[in-house]
Amino acid sequence: MNYKDKLDELRRQDLLRSVRDRDCPAGRTIKIGGRDLLNFSSNDYLGLASNHAIIEAAQNALIDFGHGAGASRLLSGGTTLHATLQIRTAAFKGTEKALLFNSGYAANTGAIPALTDAHTAIFSDELNHASIVDGCRLSAATERHIYKHNDLNHLEALLSKSQRVNKLIVTESIFSMDGDVADICNLNMLCARFGAALYIDDAHATGVIGGGRGALAHFNIVPQNHIIQMGTYSKALGSVGGFAAAEKQVIDYLCNTARTLIYSTALPASAVAASIAAIDYIAAHPELIVKLRDNIATCRKLLIARGFPVTLDETPIIPVMFSTSAETLTMSARLLAQGIYAPAIRPPTVKAPRIRISISAFHERGDVTHLVNALYEAAR
Ligand SMILES: Cc1ncc(COP(=O)(O)O)c(C=O)c1O
Repeated sequence: MNYKDKLDELRRQDLLRSVRDRDCPAGRTIKIGGRDLLNFSSNDYLGLASNHAIIEAAQNALIDFGHGAGASRLLSGGTTLHATLQIRTAAFKGTEKALLFNSGYAANTGAIPALTDAHTAIFSDELNHASIVDGCRLSAATERHIYKHNDLNHLEALLSKSQRVNKLIVTESIFSMDGDVADICNLNMLCARFGAALYIDDAHATGVIGGGRGALAHFNIVPQNHIIQMGTYSKALGSVGGFAAAEKQVIDYLCNTARTLIYSTALPASAVAASIAAIDYIAAHPELIVKLRDNIATCRKLLIARGFPVTLDETPIIPVMFSTSAETLTMSARLLAQGIYAPAIRPPTVKAPRIRISISAFHERGDVTHLVNALYEAAR
């Protein structure tokens, strides 16, 4: 394979990417290439990634349990902290049990293939995250349907046509690149009508909506046996790792069959301790979610006032669309010149290029005003 030609082609299409590492903790400002920049690119929605109580919990676990886990959970990789986090996560999500994975990506690519077999039909929203897409690709399911984004009429038509007894509907709750919210109530009703299971990726909803508990709490839906809630500790909880939460049999089955759990070394205890501390911190500090909600509302209203076509969704992900990747890169560079870090998101991550603004509780009102003014000036 000629990688040079392939890289040149990506460059020609304005799709070449490179890693930009920071030289400081993750937070409101980050230092990249020697410059302090206001950070609008982070999924650390509550600013917990650099929280002192959480760092202290991780430090203590590092001393008590050491650094590396040494083996997979099914051997000796887990600790009593792993068991505690599972119990705390199940309580947080209102389910009988929960199971840890090493990341949200590992949760989706492990759980979806494990929950499905050749007799299953999968129904997946067209904007679902790459980890869900990969999970579906790894599944043995012989029927895989992609329904139009949030289009429940399309989904219903596909469900009606399927002869499969086992059906799994898979959706994100807050969509990671568009920031809109899936219609979980009506999806759940379709599940009841067609005897389908519902797999909800709550990666961006955990810690954000439903008092932090995610989409089911947001929509006042009581967790039921046909619902699997997947999530990650890596976004609003400021830590690392993923989970699946569901009824006991589902979790026990995942524990026996999910390859990303079985064939991968467990998370270090320090990361697990940080996730426990983050769940505690959210419960003790409800004002964090209130501040996040205020920042989201301020940013969305200011953008609308400046003529940007954004919605008033209560989610921290705000896409500002541009027509080409080149234009999006130019906008991002102009923001950078104003001390704002908001990278361009381009294909293949998304079909339509955009600047994806991520709002956090760590932002101050002045940060948001500065961002919106800078975007307005850049777009003129
Ligand atoms: C919707 C969604 N699911 C899963 C993941 C993967 O989570 P993690 O970053 O913990 O691997 C992400 C994050 O990129 C995501 O946006």
